[in-house]
Amino acid sequence: MIIAIDGTTSSGKGTLAKRLAAHYKLPHLDTGLLYRAVAASAINKGIDFKDERECALLAAHVELSEFDERELRGAGVGAAASIVASLGAVRRALFELQRKFARQEGGAVLDGRDIGTVIAPDADVKLWVDASVEERARRRFAELSGMGEAVTERGVLEQLKERDARDASRKDAPMKPADDAIWMDTTLTNPDETLARAIAIIEEHRGKPQPAAKKAVKKAVAKKPKG
Ligand code: DC
Repeated sequence: MIIAIDGTTSSGKGTLAKRLAAHYKLPHLDTGLLYRAVAASAINKGIDFKDERECALLAAHVELSEFDERELRGAGVGAAASIVASLGAVRRALFELQRKFARQEGGAVLDGRDIGTVIAPDADVKLWVDASVEERARRRFAELSGMGEAVTERGVLEQLKERDARDASRKDAPMKPADDAIWMDTTLTNPDETLARAIAIIEEHRGKPQPAAKKAVKKAVAKKPKG
């Protein structure tokens, strides 16, 4: 079974993906880490992260095991990753690796921005995870201050808005829910509740034809909070 999880930054999609992978005993790939690793390489090597050709070369040889995940999770690398991710050649260089991961025998869980639309449009279940931007900023602020970064909640909120806008407006594989994605709002739910809801959704939708899911998405999008 392939489970595709897309959504906004700090919506809880990463935690959900990890926990779903453990629940269904499937391998998991956080695809955001790939873009973060390319950005971190560019920063470390003094390469301009808007340089499409050079960054695509880095992407073609990216090896996640060479990075310290804590370093990749920092705010500076995240902002650079969003810019690197807008480069078409970088996305093309990372495509095959992600697709192979999705199509391995037995299936996989992948989370990112374009899993349901580009990497695994054939996924058995597609979830779109979002929360209000204020709640996401609160979560991201807590995470970053916990890592010892000197940030303010207001600054994090502004950065998130900027990142959302860039991720959603880029030409190549913009962040958006697949037509048949099931929309989950985590603003008011904790990780345990989110996991329980996701499992219920997956059990209901796995192996079912698409139209039922499409209806669910329309209803959910109509309820999407502003921001
Ligand atoms: O999920 P994240 O915050 O770790 O992602 C870092 C950046 O990478 C984010 O700004 C969007 C981008 N990204 C992407 O464009 N496509 C993906 N599949 C995953 C992440």
